[in-house]
Amino acid sequence: MDPKLGRMASALLALLLLLDGGMLSSPAPPPGPLEKIGRYIDLHQDEFVQTLREWVAVESDSVQPVPRLRQELLRMMAMAAEKLQRLGASVDSVDLGSQQLPGGQSLPLPPILLAELGNDPRKPTVCFYGHLDVQPAKQGDGWLADPYTLTEVDGKLYGRGATDNKGPVLAWINAVSTFGAVEQDLPVNVKFVLEGMEEAGSVGLEELVRREKERFFAGVDYILISDNLWLSRKKPALTYGTRGNSYFLVEVKCRTQDFHSGTFGGILHEPLADLVALLGSLVDSSGHILIPGIYDSVAPLTEDEKDTYKAVDLDLEEYRNSSQVEKFLFETKEEILMHLWRYPSLSIHGIEGAFDEPGAKTVIPGRVVGKFSIRLVPHMNVSVVEKQVKRHLEDVFSKRNSPNHMTVSMVVGLQPWLANTDDNQYLAAKRAIRTVFGREPDMIRDGSSIPIAKIFQDTLQKSVLMLPLGAVDDGEHSQNEKINRWNYIEGSKLFAAFFLEMAKLH
Ligand SMILES: *[C@@H]1O[C@H](CO)[C@@H](O)[C@H](O)[C@H]1NC(C)=O
Ligand SMILES: *[C@@H]1O[C@H](CO)[C@@H](O)[C@H](O)[C@H]1NC(C)=O
Ligand SMILES: [Zn+2]
Repeated sequence: MDPKLGRMASALLALLLLLDGGMLSSPAPPPGPLEKIGRYIDLHQDEFVQTLREWVAVESDSVQPVPRLRQELLRMMAMAAEKLQRLGASVDSVDLGSQQLPGGQSLPLPPILLAELGNDPRKPTVCFYGHLDVQPAKQGDGWLADPYTLTEVDGKLYGRGATDNKGPVLAWINAVSTFGAVEQDLPVNVKFVLEGMEEAGSVGLEELVRREKERFFAGVDYILISDNLWLSRKKPALTYGTRGNSYFLVEVKCRTQDFHSGTFGGILHEPLADLVALLGSLVDSSGHILIPGIYDSVAPLTEDEKDTYKAVDLDLEEYRNSSQVEKFLFETKEEILMHLWRYPSLSIHGIEGAFDEPGAKTVIPGRVVGKFSIRLVPHMNVSVVEKQVKRHLEDVFSKRNSPNHMTVSMVVGLQPWLANTDDNQYLAAKRAIRTVFGREPDMIRDGSSIPIAKIFQDTLQKSVLMLPLGAVDDGEHSQNEKINRWNYIEGSKLFAAFFLEMAKLH
């Protein structure tokens, strides 16, 4: 724009704003609650980072079942309980007893913390789920620094659990505590479910949720989970779906012992040949699943839905580079996202009993077990898929006229999860993201399964929101896990803004 025109336009705009304000001489409006909160969080960010440092320093590894680590995990839960109490919440540390290990040894299970703050019937009640256990980490695995010493480099806070999930749990607590610090009424009632066994299969959680349905969860309006990542480094995201999974074992057996091909080769129906044919019948070279009926209940693609994939911020070249894949099955960003999120996929994982060492042994395996799984999407049904897979494999096997014995079993069956993005909490989260980050979120799904969302939705019949805070390169479960200071601090503001928006919509 011509600079003179620009000046005129802004003068005109200023005049219009003044007229709109009614009084020409009115003073600047007092800062709104969110401005005060934002300023407070900015000023106190080093304290928030310090608390994260103290939490990361606890080696709360739930994966390795050793007494020293289990004590650390219990200490972590006790620290969190104390933090919530200081916040003014009432905290119930639910004892889950102990865990029997295969060797006969037993270890105490960490308690699940159920906490609540506020009980005003006029306010919505938002329940936050998070976990305080972490994946194992050793500096020798390739960490630049000790994984349990939060280390800041270029605004990145490196440490095990920084993004998964201690940072987001603390961001939520920071948001709650800031309302108190600036003497603002907390606009929502808050509940917390904090567990310590997420990385080890959430032992005891589903049962507890079921047991507490009519008690702790009775007044809950919405459930929020912040335990996944954005798809981008800079652009925030809202997650509204995850794929399910059905995992199959297909065994082909002639006898338990192996054979020698010099002695039996030429006269046997070989189990591994049968199994290779079975596995080869599942999917074609373009990734299309060949099991009859498998696509029948996949939700039809609408034009509106197509547009959502266009808007997602994904740099395909960078994605290819970072995953070291020369060429994917699909060329465009939209196709790739759809095949990760809204279409099923079939993956072949391995063969038990096959000869997989180096060398050239002339063995004929006597019994082999093939392993594959199908990622499920709305509106596929686990039990229908199980029947389709079994029927297909039996059909293919019968055509081989093999006297071997085939057995098919489904060992994991997780339904897909999809939220209704018109629910209040999605609208509130979108508005909060706009306010804090000044842009629209990526509406994303997760190609893997996050069973907890489905458990909450199915068991409690409540609306679940996944609102991630971490960037795509945070490296959860990996070496040099980190959360950016910016994500942690702006994320704390985001939760505060979310409370305010939630209260407005309620
Ligand atoms: C991907 O890798 C190629 C070759 O190493 C490089 O030229 C290109 O800049 C990279 N692109 C991105 C987006 O990182
Ligand atoms: C899945 O299909 C079975 C019938 O095979 C039905 O009983 C069940 O209710 C379905 N489950 C869902 C979640 O739709
Ligand atoms: Zn996690």
